[in-house]
Amino acid sequence: MPANPSEVMPPLLAAYAGRRQATPPVWFMRQAGRSLPEYRASRARTAMLDACLEPELAAEITVQPVRRHGVDAAILFSDIVVPLKLAGVDVDIVPGRGPVFARPVRTPADLDHLVAHELHPEALAPIEAAVARTVERLGATPLIGFAGAPFTLASYVVEGGPSKDQLRARTLLHADPVAWGRLTAWLAGVSGAFLAAQVRAGARAVQLFDSWAGALSEGDYRAAVLPASARALAAVPGGVPKVHFGTGTALLLPAMRDAGADVIGVDHRLPLDAASALLEHRVPLQGNVDPALLAAPWPVLERHLEQVVTAGAAAPAHVLNLGHGVPPTTDPGVLTRIVDWMHSRV
Ligand code: CP3
Repeated sequence: MPANPSEVMPPLLAAYAGRRQATPPVWFMRQAGRSLPEYRASRARTAMLDACLEPELAAEITVQPVRRHGVDAAILFSDIVVPLKLAGVDVDIVPGRGPVFARPVRTPADLDHLVAHELHPEALAPIEAAVARTVERLGATPLIGFAGAPFTLASYVVEGGPSKDQLRARTLLHADPVAWGRLTAWLAGVSGAFLAAQVRAGARAVQLFDSWAGALSEGDYRAAVLPASARALAAVPGGVPKVHFGTGTALLLPAMRDAGADVIGVDHRLPLDAASALLEHRVPLQGNVDPALLAAPWPVLERHLEQVVTAGAAAPAHVLNLGHGVPPTTDPGVLTRIVDWMHSRV
């Protein structure tokens, strides 16, 4: 959706465009989730994937952390496997575990079965409705749309569920490059369509989550993963900033930029000044408060926040976020305190 030219650009979008703010805007990955009592109440009677497909409920949950914390962005309440579900794939999200597939891709027949699924544009209607309702409620606060990157999705699809080191996916990538190419191209199509639908309905930025890309060498990433991620990102209508995030990606940041990202999300393992140097100080960064420190005493967390903001000043612009998602056990008051701390710093 084109921005209204008379509107002042929200701080998040200014930072994503590379414009340094007096104070970095702030939001949290997984800000809509179990750390919020109002989220737990909203979800009490509804399974995760059903909640994602109920526009009114998804919109309400998306707006909850904006209301409570005053963050500078909302991110759509959904999941990386939602577009696969909408394509008819038998997948569920098991509480405490994550996405589980009824038919993991282990044989050529499994792959043929998976890629025969098509994501029809009409199937995305509940997502578009959730985005439209959310945007209506958010006023000037921008909504971020998102999708899973082909490698991270492939790791779930091939394993059948969560895995520690993405072993089966990395085996397939080498053992059968043709099958790997078909799988990741199909996933790129599905994730690209999911991103494009969210933007058409009003999302003003997108983030591609390649949470497990850090399992790859740079060579394997560039040869066997980057082309599919680039394809997913290329599906986003022009002019909409694209954030690319993964964990353990210190060796991959330039490659992740080369996939077509405008902004790079960094996890807690790499200080932002080091990340910025790897990107020749040309790319806005998002990150990278260690989620573990959310449970530390405030003075310890505050010292860490200072370090993150100071290191972030090395980049053209910085959006304060965590290095990964909000742990469900987080005291939500701590998140509000971080937002207030950031907004009141001059
Ligand atoms: O950031 C946000 O607030 C937006 C919502 C969001 C969810 N999942 C909601 C969710 C986003 C951006 C995601 C992305 C996602 N999903 C990723 C990439 C980001 C990351 O964390 O690395 C991945 C790998 C998944 C897969 C997934 N879905 C996992 C591992 C889990 C956790 C399972 C569990 O119970 O611990 C989910 C479920 C999920 N997705 C929840 C939420 C709020 C928890 C569901 C619940 O409340 O029971």
